[in-house]
Amino acid sequence: MSESMTESHNPAPSHVPPELVRDFSYWGTPGMTPTPNGDPHAIMRRFRDAPRVFYAHASNEGVYAPFGNSMWIFTRAADMREALQHPELFSSQRESFASMIGENWVMMPVDVDPPLHTIFRTMLNPLFSPKRIEQMKSGIRERAASLIESFAANGECEFMDAFARPFPVTIFLQFVGLSDERREEFQQWGRDLLHGVDLETKARGCRAIVDYMRELIAERRKAPKDDFITAVLNARVDGRPLTEDEIVGCTFLVFLAGLDTVAATLSFQFLHLARHPEHQAQLRTTPSLIPAAVEEFMRVYGILPMIRVVTRDLEFAGVKMKKGDLINCPPQLANIDRDEVVDPDKIDFTRTDNRHMAFAYGPHRCIGSHLARLELVIAAEEWLKRFPAFRVKEGASPIVHAGSVWGAEELHLAWE
Ligand code: HEM
Repeated sequence: MSESMTESHNPAPSHVPPELVRDFSYWGTPGMTPTPNGDPHAIMRRFRDAPRVFYAHASNEGVYAPFGNSMWIFTRAADMREALQHPELFSSQRESFASMIGENWVMMPVDVDPPLHTIFRTMLNPLFSPKRIEQMKSGIRERAASLIESFAANGECEFMDAFARPFPVTIFLQFVGLSDERREEFQQWGRDLLHGVDLETKARGCRAIVDYMRELIAERRKAPKDDFITAVLNARVDGRPLTEDEIVGCTFLVFLAGLDTVAATLSFQFLHLARHPEHQAQLRTTPSLIPAAVEEFMRVYGILPMIRVVTRDLEFAGVKMKKGDLINCPPQLANIDRDEVVDPDKIDFTRTDNRHMAFAYGPHRCIGSHLARLELVIAAEEWLKRFPAFRVKEGASPIVHAGSVWGAEELHLAWE
């Protein structure tokens, strides 16, 4: 990757000033794809002193690029907040996963703008209330403990398969009121869709999830339960029931949003702790710092890009953008903006006023943040109290990637 003007044989569009072009693919530049000991956050950090907005443009042969490969990337938190608060200029109505399988539903409400977004968000908010999530606390702790017990005696584990992936799936299943029987299938579908190396694998994952959601929706129509899907079926938006496509779009999003995000965040949290025994020791001695530590990990190790589509020709931060251009507001840069964060590269569990953007900003701010935080805190508490210092297993290289959801593909941990 170079910070220089692009040499790509595929020139940037004519409205993009050449001095703002960088030879960089958010999806495909080496180090953003799965890489042993990869550090995509360090790659993004190189752009913190780039112009307020630059144009990432590179050839993307062979790389699946959701929405498109070239995009404007914002580098300053204030500009990102401004953009994310103006969906009439920067819209969430992007190409949906449904198009992979020749269908038309959209992920509700993440792929729509206000006022429709507000209507759906208002319908969903009570289902994610802090009170409802708090009731799941003991179940989440039991699940964390039983997973850990299943491999604790081995002295090592592949963290992603042993803990990070199964843990959020079982919590999601509990959240939507389903049994654990098909957990492994669920995980595989999510992985196929989000991390499949080709369109065929992704489409297969997408199809499997949608078919299963439709099966569940049909079952709940016949026999309602006190669960998430029944609540969505009974909900009203603007005084009317949801359409079949809207129900599929809502349940599909909730399925997807809670799986990979938590697993990915756990991967960075535990990789960091494994590489920093002093931070493990600090949290073992003072467990009350764990919630603040989780926030600090989320600040420094953001996992999701916020991608929007420009709705009309406009000028932003002194840059002319065209209708249809993509913008990316990466929390990985917002959260280390020197104008807003004191000593941004320091991991400090005593940091106060940690207002990071890992859960986004504006109308689409993550609705699952209470649940995610609870899972992340409980995971750290249960690990730290059970294990003496854990580390990356000798000789193993964690495989780390960027993409739609940044995270570790493989992370071997060991302990005495
Ligand atoms: C650490 C874990 C998580 C992170 C970092 C995260 C991050 C985000 C971000 C950045 C967005 C905004 C996307 C955008 O504006 O384009 C978002 C939206 C959303 N998240 Fe999360 N999320 C996490 C966990 C969860 C969980 C556990 C759930 C549910 C079970 C969830 C459900 C949702 C939903 C439904 C939306 C769409 C909200 C809307 O459009 O109004 N998330 N999340």
